[in-house]
Amino acid sequence: MTPKPLQDRIAIITGATGDLGAAIAKRFLEAGARLALIDLDAARLKARCEQELGAGDRVLVLACDVSDADQSRACVDAASRHFGALNILVNNAATVSTRTPIAEVSLEEWRRTLDVNLTGAWLMAKWAIPHLRQTGGGVILNIASQLGHVATVGSSAYSASKAALLSLTRSIAVDCAADHIRAVSLSPGAVITSRLTKRYGTEEAVNRALAGKHPVGRIGRPHELAEAALYLVSDGASFVTGSDLLVDGGYTAV
Ligand SMILES: NC(=O)c1ccc[n+]([C@@H]2O[C@H](COP(=O)([O-])OP(=O)(O)OC[C@H]3O[C@@H](n4cnc5c(N)ncnc54)[C@H](O)[C@@H]3O)[C@@H](O)[C@H]2O)c1
Repeated sequence: MTPKPLQDRIAIITGATGDLGAAIAKRFLEAGARLALIDLDAARLKARCEQELGAGDRVLVLACDVSDADQSRACVDAASRHFGALNILVNNAATVSTRTPIAEVSLEEWRRTLDVNLTGAWLMAKWAIPHLRQTGGGVILNIASQLGHVATVGSSAYSASKAALLSLTRSIAVDCAADHIRAVSLSPGAVITSRLTKRYGTEEAVNRALAGKHPVGRIGRPHELAEAALYLVSDGASFVTGSDLLVDGGYTAV
């Protein structure tokens, strides 16, 4: 039997209650991984796991705010201790920011967006790197966005955080290459998740607003991004580091 691509790899996935994080978790489990799933609210995350993943002792649920240094450190240490190693970190957690013209963005929103989307990813990487080194190497995957490459009206804080995440990915890659740690990012176009259905009201409204911005004429599905995430963390991508994979239906090609 061919071994599964992530057989017995240990992965941490942040923001796993969200639709994209949950889809990545599902795909990684199918690929043989064991997972520490992190989100702000343990009860909501546990409920989602029980409904959709049903993976028993292959999944550990942990609650933490990734932008809090003590909480994020405790979570990474607990995950590594629980499974005895760490191979993969997926920084997927992100705030939902408002659509606000740049001069009206509050300092509070600007800071919170950067704190979670950028500092949270850096903190998680900072705490994970010693464990990955101990394992003999591994992969850090940062979920960025097409809006880290191009701007859209009213998304300055989010775009800045995601552009900085692309830069952070390159820095981790060069700092940690000698430790056999790869760092990669994945930039989705619009993907149908509750983040968008909450903003626009319905799936139809999301499509009406955003499908036309993608040359393929539709928005993405979480499983399409999960497939790309699996490739990036697998041995098939062993020569890929410091780079970003745009999975955006051509959004940024126009
Ligand atoms: N959905 C899209 O169209 C789209 C497009 C491009 C990029 N992305 C990126 O993909 C990722 C997942 O997107 P999604 O649509 O599933 O988003 P989502 O908002 O549904 O899920 C994000 C999850 O992160 C969690 N989270 C927020 N702040 C946190 C914190 N401080 N600590 C721990 N967890 C926290 C939330 O509780 C939520 O469960 C995000 O990084 C997002 O920026 C999404």
